[in-house]
Amino acid sequence: MRVRGDLELYRRVLQQARPHWLKIAGIFGLDLLSSPLGLLTPLPLKIAVDSVIGAHPLPAFLQMLLPATVSNSRAAALGIAVGLLIFLAILAQLQSLASSLLRTYTTEKLLLDFRALVFRRLQRMSLSYHDTTGTADSIYRIQYDTTSIQYISIDGLIPFVTSAVTLAAMLCVTTRIDWHLTLVAVTISPILLLLSQAYRPRLRQQSRKTKDLEHSALAVIQEVLQAFRVVKAFGREEQEEDRYVQRSREGMRSRLHLALEQGRYGLFVGLTTALGTAAVLWIGVRHVTAGVLTLGDLLLVMAYLGQLYGPLKTVGQKAASLQSYLASAERVFSVLDRVEDVPEHAGASPLSRASGAVTFRHVCFSYEQNRTVLRDISFDVPAGTRVAIVGRTGAGKTTILNLLTRFYDPDSGQILLDDVDLRNYKLADLRNQFAIVLQEPVLFSTTIAENIAYARPNASEAEIVTAAKLANAHDFIMKLPEGYQTQVGERGMRLSGGERQRISLARAFLKDAPILVLDEPTSSVDLKTESVIMEAMERLMKGRTAFMIAHRSSTLRDFDLKLELEAGCVVSNGTSVATGQSRGRGTARPVLEERETGG
Ligand code: GTP
Ligand code: MG
Repeated sequence: MRVRGDLELYRRVLQQARPHWLKIAGIFGLDLLSSPLGLLTPLPLKIAVDSVIGAHPLPAFLQMLLPATVSNSRAAALGIAVGLLIFLAILAQLQSLASSLLRTYTTEKLLLDFRALVFRRLQRMSLSYHDTTGTADSIYRIQYDTTSIQYISIDGLIPFVTSAVTLAAMLCVTTRIDWHLTLVAVTISPILLLLSQAYRPRLRQQSRKTKDLEHSALAVIQEVLQAFRVVKAFGREEQEEDRYVQRSREGMRSRLHLALEQGRYGLFVGLTTALGTAAVLWIGVRHVTAGVLTLGDLLLVMAYLGQLYGPLKTVGQKAASLQSYLASAERVFSVLDRVEDVPEHAGASPLSRASGAVTFRHVCFSYEQNRTVLRDISFDVPAGTRVAIVGRTGAGKTTILNLLTRFYDPDSGQILLDDVDLRNYKLADLRNQFAIVLQEPVLFSTTIAENIAYARPNASEAEIVTAAKLANAHDFIMKLPEGYQTQVGERGMRLSGGERQRISLARAFLKDAPILVLDEPTSSVDLKTESVIMEAMERLMKGRTAFMIAHRSSTLRDFDLKLELEAGCVVSNGTSVATGQSRGRGTARPVLEERETGG
């Protein structure tokens, strides 16, 4: 992860918050109101001490506002002090209510937009990104790291600015009262600044570490819940619990460490401000006894100092938690900035329906560096051809299909669809050309009907039933208590493997794409179910280019071409002759064996 400067992160966050600038400006304005309110708050006390108890006249601006008879009476001065206190309290409450409502609304809206953006971006990321990063990390970034935007843009920034304004206003006022005191107050600020500079890198570093540990604990939960059956079957609950507790404990330790750092920083900040206040008290009292300053004025300055150091202290403490939010923002932006490894070119061409001719030209590919999975694969499949891909486990069969559907891009070489490189098509259009039935059928936790209609959400009920009938799924679906409205459970766990497979076949029927990609669709079912599925498959393959991976030779009848892989290379097994008379047009290259006979 690239480490960024605070300023750059602020800039990015503010850019993100720009559509909401009007609301943010509103919060800002409301918060600014708090500084004149703050200036007025200690005034009633000053009036009470100086003009009610003491014999000083009311402050000049009140004398101007009030008639002379009122401003000269002590009872009236007390009344004014009390009235002012209540009035200011109500005003302050109203201000804080309005500010907090607007703040909540704005931050929620900001967060929602930001989360949606990150989610969209993560969905666009290639499989290889998710393979290496892991699901828990992505969940953490979307759900937790994004919240940083709220704090940075509003809770982090606005107090900085408003307290700067308050600071300036108070400095003006206190200078007029006693400039010695101002000088003392001001000398504290650079010390606070230096402190925060010194602590910032440490806090950020620790926050980063904490986040990594937190999502690694999340990863255990997720892995266990996903593979719950396996965990139970092997009786590993206790060990998994240990693993979770272990990682959580590391996270806890890291958070404690962070709290310690923050606490130490807070301590220094508190100490510094206490020293400042003590110095002001010392000098102030001496000035009062010398008659330079009234007692009321001293109280006023002390109150201002409290108000001044308060925000400075919170800004200081916020600077600590801000580092944690900046670490989060860093993680989010590193996702947003990642270059897509399966990018769509600017000038990518649309594709409505391909005829289905596929060519691999010297394709090499590896998931990880230094571990080549496919070596110099070349073959040519005319449109409408049925291709069987065979080979030992780990030979790279699924990988070929992954490249064909552009889940990954080849390291070198080209894959062509209708004589155009896959990378020159719009991604969505390209994927639309394939109906895929995977080795492990994936269903979503919704009804059977919605699962079938996954590729075409607006399909009519009749179309769904037709697709299910073609996939030989209709009969078993009708036997379920709620038929097509049956909920299949998370990942379709309430159905058997063969049933799930037939539903994913129905999905492929409904999609009606020109190219079929079938990855061992019958590997996990019994022979009878297999023949039922194969029968449906035959129907599905009609008139389309089809790629099917199969282990059992019984499933390999009726294919035009056979592509045999061994350790990532295409091996022509003995009779390497050009076929030329396959179902489709054109000539297959020698690597493809002639239609296999028998079973
Ligand atoms: P079976 O499905 O078992 O018949 O094998 P296959 O021929 O479909 O093999 P596949 O193409 O899935 O894998 C080929 C090689 O790539 C194997 O050595 C795998 O270890 C490796 N591989 C497959 N998928 C991934 C992946 O997502 N990441 C990494 N790093 N390696 C992978
Ligand atoms: Mg496979």
